[in-house]
Amino acid sequence: MEVCQVLHMNGGRGEKSYAQNSSIQRKVISMTKPIAKEAITNLYRNTFPASLAIADLGCSSGPNTLYAVSELVKAVDEVRRKLGHQSPEYQVLLNDLPGNDFNAIFKSLAGFQEDMRKQMGDGSGPCFFAGVPGSFYGRLFRRKSLHFVYSSCGVMWLSQVPEGLEDNKGSICMVGKSPPSVVKAYYRQFQMDFSLFLKCRSEELVAGGRMVLNIYSRKSEDPSSKESCYIWDLLSVALNEMVVEGIIEEEKSDSFNIPVYTPSPLEVESIVEKERVLHH
Ligand SMILES: C[S@@+](CC[C@H](N)C(=O)[O-])C[C@H]1O[C@@H](n2cnc3c(N)ncnc32)[C@H](O)[C@@H]1O
Repeated sequence: MEVCQVLHMNGGRGEKSYAQNSSIQRKVISMTKPIAKEAITNLYRNTFPASLAIADLGCSSGPNTLYAVSELVKAVDEVRRKLGHQSPEYQVLLNDLPGNDFNAIFKSLAGFQEDMRKQMGDGSGPCFFAGVPGSFYGRLFRRKSLHFVYSSCGVMWLSQVPEGLEDNKGSICMVGKSPPSVVKAYYRQFQMDFSLFLKCRSEELVAGGRMVLNIYSRKSEDPSSKESCYIWDLLSVALNEMVVEGIIEEEKSDSFNIPVYTPSPLEVESIVEKERVLHH
């Protein structure tokens, strides 16, 4: 089954929804805000675009979705006021996989726009929103149509479960005790996916455009270090117990693997560098 056809965070606003269970991801957005603000304000100061297209890739649904983009728009507005410039028009492109609860985002837009108008005052915007369903491991936007690409906690999701995980028994992801073939298979998939991601964005961004990506990663260069997969390891333990209790079949549990890879900073850098050399 294709990951991009089935993967989605829980929609709505119920107890088990992503909206109610995404405070860690919100913290990530908040902690990295200065970096994103600096990147978008530099972009604005260097190019003064009359209209500014911002894409949030893997935006999900819930309070984080509009939080990230509102901070970006407010950062530009602050600078353009200081400089005494007329506001650019903003186009905000919200991307996620087709199973995402886009309706929940669309329903919240009117209230959000009203809040933004109050916060930014007259003379700012307008801000046009669009939902863009599809996988970011492919082209999503017109050539040279984006000024700023943002993505938080999305790019560690792989496009598919790597091939060659037959020996990953008893685990649902890459863990300390995974055989080297499993570790290699995960890294290979991340290399392919992230390279494709960069290639697609390089086609979509305007010259001088910027991109800020928050990726769950690990500090250690050792791919099987505990920090990469602690949460999934806990889930593996729970699943294994369910197998012992006969609640799920062992074969099913063994064939289930999560399409997530947490790269090290060096791994990310080396793929970025490879793409830079390839496309210059
Ligand atoms: C952990 S959520 C992060 C959501 C939001 N950016 C935040 O910070 O709260 C990751 C999101 O990435 C989306 N995602 C995963 N793979 C994707 C892909 N190939 N293309 C587009 N979105 C994807 C998931 O559907 C999910 O909504």
